[in-house]
Amino acid sequence: MTPSKESIVDATVPSAGRIYDYLLGGHHNFEVDRQAAQMLLNMSPFSAKLVRLQRWCLQDLAHELTVVRGFDTIIDFASGLPTQDHLHFVVPKGTKVIYSDYDPVVVEYAREILGNTPDVYFFEADARQPEELLGRPEVVEILGNKRNVALVYWGIAMFLSDEDLSRASQALYDWAGTESCWAFNAQGAGISKDHPGTLTVLEMYRNMGTPLYVRERQEYEGLLKPWHPDSNGFISLLDWHGFEQDELSKEDLAVFGPTGAGYGVYLLK
Ligand SMILES: C[S@@+](CC[C@H](N)C(=O)[O-])C[C@H]1O[C@@H](n2cnc3c(N)ncnc32)[C@H](O)[C@@H]1O
Repeated sequence: MTPSKESIVDATVPSAGRIYDYLLGGHHNFEVDRQAAQMLLNMSPFSAKLVRLQRWCLQDLAHELTVVRGFDTIIDFASGLPTQDHLHFVVPKGTKVIYSDYDPVVVEYAREILGNTPDVYFFEADARQPEELLGRPEVVEILGNKRNVALVYWGIAMFLSDEDLSRASQALYDWAGTESCWAFNAQGAGISKDHPGTLTVLEMYRNMGTPLYVRERQEYEGLLKPWHPDSNGFISLLDWHGFEQDELSKEDLAVFGPTGAGYGVYLLK
């Protein structure tokens, strides 16, 4: 039996997915999430801009993967809520979008939001074990024999340990067809690790039971092998979306660094 929302929600504990939703201006969050998000904003006002920037970049890659690179199927891990600015609003009609998230509350809300939207699916799945989503009977039925697909890990890498990321990367590599492309957000690379704002944010997430892993671009490169970047290499989020550095305050830049708190990269086999 599917658990009801009441039975799976612990409204006393903030959830990373719902905090994210609040920062994006969404309504799928609770008081406890709003309080945590507000604390985050007080400590780090750029957080709201950062999640918005990450969503814009997500729209950019949705266009790139489908219209430019020709993929008709996108499999997205750790999707969060599929609100108005998510992948399926950008891709051409008929593109199959398979979303997923490991938070059952996010999955339930997501299904409410999507209703019967054609060609768009949402499953509960853990990005640390991508093979579980890929092997799910419903997903196997949607994909048929298709293995040349677009894969997406956006806004999730900081939630994954080195071991998890490297394992997931190998599992995707083993599963994917040779023409596949993996759009990956090297989240957090380039931020100022010792800035008091960064340290407070890291502590807050640690206390929520979802520690964040901060790593440099070179560390990402190692963990993502055997995938390799396409000829554009790692692109700072600011460049990915064409965001101007002068749109950030001095304080924003001091915390999040000149990349805009990470890179995006299209990985190939
Ligand atoms: C920061 S949001 C990213 C949302 C979206 N990908 C984006 O870029 O806008 C993080 C989401 O990842 C989910 N998440 C965290 N760890 C996960 C994991 N191991 N597997 C699947 N989802 C996860 C959370 O529930 C949350 O909804």
